[in-house]
Amino acid sequence: MKIGMIGAGTMAKVVANYIKERNEQGEQISCLGMAELLGGGSIDEAFKEVPEVLIDFSNPANIEKTCGYAKEHGIPAVIATTGCSEDDEATIRKAAETVPIVYSANYSLGITVIEKAVEEMTRTLAGAFDIEIIEQHHRRKLDAPSGTALLLARAVQRGGIAADENGSGNGIRYEFTYGRYGSSLRRKEEIGVHAVRGGGIVGEHTVLFAGDEEVIEIRHHAQSKRIFAVGALKAAKFALSKEAGLYQMKDVLWTQEQS
Ligand SMILES: NC(=O)c1ccc[n+]([C@@H]2O[C@H](COP(=O)([O-])OP(=O)(O)OC[C@H]3O[C@@H](n4cnc5c(N)ncnc54)[C@H](OP(=O)(O)O)[C@@H]3O)[C@@H](O)[C@H]2O)c1
Repeated sequence: MKIGMIGAGTMAKVVANYIKERNEQGEQISCLGMAELLGGGSIDEAFKEVPEVLIDFSNPANIEKTCGYAKEHGIPAVIATTGCSEDDEATIRKAAETVPIVYSANYSLGITVIEKAVEEMTRTLAGAFDIEIIEQHHRRKLDAPSGTALLLARAVQRGGIAADENGSGNGIRYEFTYGRYGSSLRRKEEIGVHAVRGGGIVGEHTVLFAGDEEVIEIRHHAQSKRIFAVGALKAAKFALSKEAGLYQMKDVLWTQEQS
């Protein structure tokens, strides 16, 4: 597998180290280069040859270039960059009509499993429990709240809508409330989303289901950034075997066996 990295920051380096690790175990994966696009460079200049797949851990400012390159060369892309706007996401969806794109705010196994669990829990608990999401990250993180917090909040939204369909009658159209300040009572339609920034925290996400007399906390604690590299490489291998389309990490983990 020949990979072209979009971005040359922390995560791009973690992916490059993980590729080395896999090659030491006998695999043949090459990283053809890291495209540093901050100064306005082009992806073409970054790679010795056209990669088989792109992995983008960079900045939303690069989404057009990543999607454009993938379409031009007919290669899949794994997009891990967070903080994408609606326009960026429209660009990703458009590219996915031509090439396979995996797009997820979190490539870890743990969060992918939690996303599913949170949706299921909300189906049953909507209306009876208030739901809040608290995330913590290192001081260098640019976007807030994290893409993962939004991914989990969307799982709550889906669970709220599904609660109607399963006949419990507790269905709620949840809306996001980012932090709180001043005086206003909490409404049952709110999902409070709270971002904490400091130090070197790799990533902490808690989904809090607060009932009147009991509280459930689902907590994910990322201990190393390597977990995202492991998932991104799985996604790259998956994308290489797929038709054009937009895929998520749950498709990667549960659509077919991956090594
Ligand atoms: N989906 C996941 O599982 C997952 C996991 C971890 C991180 N992420 C996301 O991956 C992204 C990168 O994270 P990181 O920790 O590697 O960040 P980082 O160390 O800050 O690296 C970001 C990269 O993007 C480049 N960049 C920044 N601003 C740019 C701009 N305006 N135009 C073009 N390029 C720009 C940086 O260039 P310079 O090096 O020149 O500054 C660097 O190469 C973030 O969005 C982060 O949230 C996703």
